Amino acid sequence: MSNLKAPVVILNFKTYLESSGENALELAKALESASAESGITMVAAPQAIDIYKIKEETGIPVLSQHIDAVSPGGHTGSNLFESFVESGIDGSLLNHSEKRMTLADIAAVTKMLEDEKLISCICTNNVETSVAAATLSPTYVAVEPPELIGTGIPVSKADPEVVSGSVDKVKAIDKNVSVLCGAGISTGEDMAAAIELGAEGVLLASGIIKAESPKDALLDLVSKI
Ligand code: G3P
Repeated sequence: MSNLKAPVVILNFKTYLESSGENALELAKALESASAESGITMVAAPQAIDIYKIKEETGIPVLSQHIDAVSPGGHTGSNLFESFVESGIDGSLLNHSEKRMTLADIAAVTKMLEDEKLISCICTNNVETSVAAATLSPTYVAVEPPELIGTGIPVSKADPEVVSGSVDKVKAIDKNVSVLCGAGISTGEDMAAAIELGAEGVLLASGIIKAESPKDALLDLVSKI
């Protein structure tokens, strides 16, 4: 799998208790049923330890949250690409602002994913880093200003220029790279504004994970597109 039908919703499970262990599986099932009801592609990005179970029990695409740029051997505590592939991932987030990587490591892991025809989603924090990420030709560049993450203040409204600027510059470098945006996105209006700015989907977390009913929150998210 290397391309998902746009628009896409990628839910980063991070390390919230509400999206860990058994709760991770429940949340993945909410994504699966919201996706079936709305017809919108919805993707889970759970912690590494929850991937197997979610792949076994749901049919949704699954990304890992991070992959270490290490080869098989002596790297205690690292997360090995080959193990993720065996667990059935469809791809990975890379360079999230909560798990930054060196440029060399981003390039190495993007290449590993590309070689296996898996999805790469490189997170960036501004237009300049979106440009740098685009030169690596990942599947997605996801621009997320860190200061808006977890605030409930949507990037698509608070900083529309970082989204439209990333779309323009990324497409000028490689028109096959899709731009997503994230940070503070939670409602249908937030997502509609993102699509209006040229994004092909959103990467989000707390607004859905902390919602009383994640499935209802997901349906609301895609209700205006
Ligand atoms: O990766 C998604 C993210 O960092 C945005 O988080 O909680 O603002 O939706 P949140």
